Amino acid sequence: MFNFFKTPEAPVAPGRVIALMNQKGGVGKTTMAFNLAHAFHHQGKKVLCIDMDPQANFSSLFDLPVDPDRKNVHHLLINTIKELRPLHTPVFLNDVRVTSAEGIDLLPSGQELSGFELTVAGISMPRQLILKKFIDKLELRSQYDIIIIDGPPTLGLLVVNILCATDGVLFPFVPDRFSEQGLRNILEAVKDIGEMEISAVPKNLGYIPNLFDTRRKQASEDLEQIRLNLGGGTIHEPFTNKVQFGKSLAQRKSVFHFKSGEFRDLQRQFVAMTETVHKELQ
Ligand SMILES: Nc1ncnc2c1ncn2[C@@H]1O[C@H](COP(=O)(O)OP(=O)(O)OP(=O)(O)O)[C@@H](O)[C@H]1O
Ligand SMILES: [Mg+2]
Repeated sequence: MFNFFKTPEAPVAPGRVIALMNQKGGVGKTTMAFNLAHAFHHQGKKVLCIDMDPQANFSSLFDLPVDPDRKNVHHLLINTIKELRPLHTPVFLNDVRVTSAEGIDLLPSGQELSGFELTVAGISMPRQLILKKFIDKLELRSQYDIIIIDGPPTLGLLVVNILCATDGVLFPFVPDRFSEQGLRNILEAVKDIGEMEISAVPKNLGYIPNLFDTRRKQASEDLEQIRLNLGGGTIHEPFTNKVQFGKSLAQRKSVFHFKSGEFRDLQRQFVAMTETVHKELQ
């Protein structure tokens, strides 16, 4: 642990909700969400992570004790819907919320979340606003400085719920043609939120180039071209292919857990990202 660690105190201002999103899989959404959560935590912020991906990769990084009966965010969301509540066992926030050894809170995901769209198909309240209502009703913004949501590599109702609930979105991507299409699709979904006029459009907090190939001469030009193609926006400092991610995630640790110099650059990059998020959302 580093000596810049501070004990989180109760938030003084309403917390912000951000999400890591891209329709494309394997671009680093979970890796970025996990390390960013720790970067905020090391600055003394009270952090809540919400895993909204049925794959539950984010949750698995928190090294929870095995519990086959563990309830997850799906059960919590369903419990906020009046007409579905009688059909399900009551579940409370503290039945689901877990705290990591470092002191970061998490609402884990589970396989049930893949049935979310079907479960809520017939309800009368707006299905896009279930997550937003849940965050509001449980006053999570007054309990946390920052709420970080890890999104699934899809474009369905879960994604729309995330976009309606967040103040801002970070978009990790691998700078290639396929990822650009995934980005376009998710940006289109963000635009749709505006057209539906059911909630505020989340702010674009920037694109995070990941697995960036610095050996390619054209790499920087390609990045700028992608940025222009997407209509502008912030491009965060690219992440190259880093064995340190593999090493740390294999131990279910963030890059902030390690003292050796080889992690310093990644730590700096995530701290810089927290500063951008803070500036954009203040
Ligand atoms: N810059 C990097 N250097 C090395 N490995 C990386 C890097 N970024 C991500 N990875 C690795 O790539 C894999 C995929 O990353 P990750 O799970 O974060 O992607 P994802 O976008 O969340 O995927 P999914 O859409 O399936 O949820 C992980 O094993 C992760 O450790
Ligand atoms: Mg993921």
